[in-house]
Amino acid sequence: MNYKIGSIKGDGIGPEIVGEAQKVIKKIGIKYGHDFEFTEMLLGGASIDAYGIPLTEDTIKTAKEMDAVLMGSIGGDAATSPWYKLEPAKRPEAGLLGIRKALGLFANLRPAVLYPQLAGACPLKDELTKGGFDLLIMRELTGGLYFGERHTDIADGVRTAVDTLTYNENEIRRIAIKAFDIARKRRKIVTSVDKANVLDSSRLWRSVVEEVAKDYPDIELRHMLVDNCAMQLVRDPKQFDVILTENMFGDILSDEASMVTGSIGMLASASLNDTSFGLYEPSHGSAPDIAGQNKANPLATILSASMLLRFSLNLQKEADDIDAAVFKVLEDGLRTGDIYTEGTKLVTTSQMGDAVAAAI
Ligand code: IPM
Ligand code: MG
Repeated sequence: MNYKIGSIKGDGIGPEIVGEAQKVIKKIGIKYGHDFEFTEMLLGGASIDAYGIPLTEDTIKTAKEMDAVLMGSIGGDAATSPWYKLEPAKRPEAGLLGIRKALGLFANLRPAVLYPQLAGACPLKDELTKGGFDLLIMRELTGGLYFGERHTDIADGVRTAVDTLTYNENEIRRIAIKAFDIARKRRKIVTSVDKANVLDSSRLWRSVVEEVAKDYPDIELRHMLVDNCAMQLVRDPKQFDVILTENMFGDILSDEASMVTGSIGMLASASLNDTSFGLYEPSHGSAPDIAGQNKANPLATILSASMLLRFSLNLQKEADDIDAAVFKVLEDGLRTGDIYTEGTKLVTTSQMGDAVAAAI
């Protein structure tokens, strides 16, 4: 089969880590006789440098012609990069928000898994994480505070800023359905996270999620307030299977969940719309401090490539192969600097990519 994959290398360590993921995908192509064709696209800082804006119509058009898009990371150091002297709507992050909206990528899947080989990196006490944990945050990605009306004015002589949090029932229903569907393939628990003791949007969220749950009698639905969820993630992460939540809460909780694994360099993500199309990227940022040094951990991007094969191209066996190859290199003791511990073998970005490709 012939597959078209868009590739957004992005900024910072992005080009290095995407390069390694492409290596791994190409190896899958050789093994299974697939033809993966990559089309380079610009987004974020790289697009600002080339065109003065973080997202062009051309990038959106190209993305729509692809089966899926693999992305590295975007953005730079806000204190030093000239990109952050631009007005907010022209900065790298605005490109990311723009492409999510333009492609309707409302469902953001962020798995947080404790790899047994990396359990030592988990900052929680052993007794809290014994046996590991494996949770998935299903974050709504195109609504809420991120996309509500906002403005900053002088009101009665006082500088006043307004952000609005809006959800309609359709936006809530479609993401809830995604969460229940994926829970069905996992441990069958959905924890819906909201702030229903305060916010109207959360009360609507809760009632729509309960309506959707009626179609999934085999799935256990739990509700949790977001402040409690932040606490439970460090108190007992094993209780979670799928966490379903709105955009802003998901942004915050997914960073917390990744830290709890201790190895953010390992975490992949997928942003999906209602078709099989998706944008796949590591959960970590662009790490400008180590860019170009062949030091970054490419495994989150390689695991994002695995999600791409699984969700957008429906290549399950091939995706399993990538996951198993990552498991094997960890078993063999290979580590980039971020996950290195004494007694393991320190490798570069490209050595790690080569090892995963070789294990396929
Ligand atoms: C993320 C990031 C983005 C977000 C930023 C870069 C706009 O933090 O993907 O979690 O807040 O969604
Ligand atoms: Mg974030």
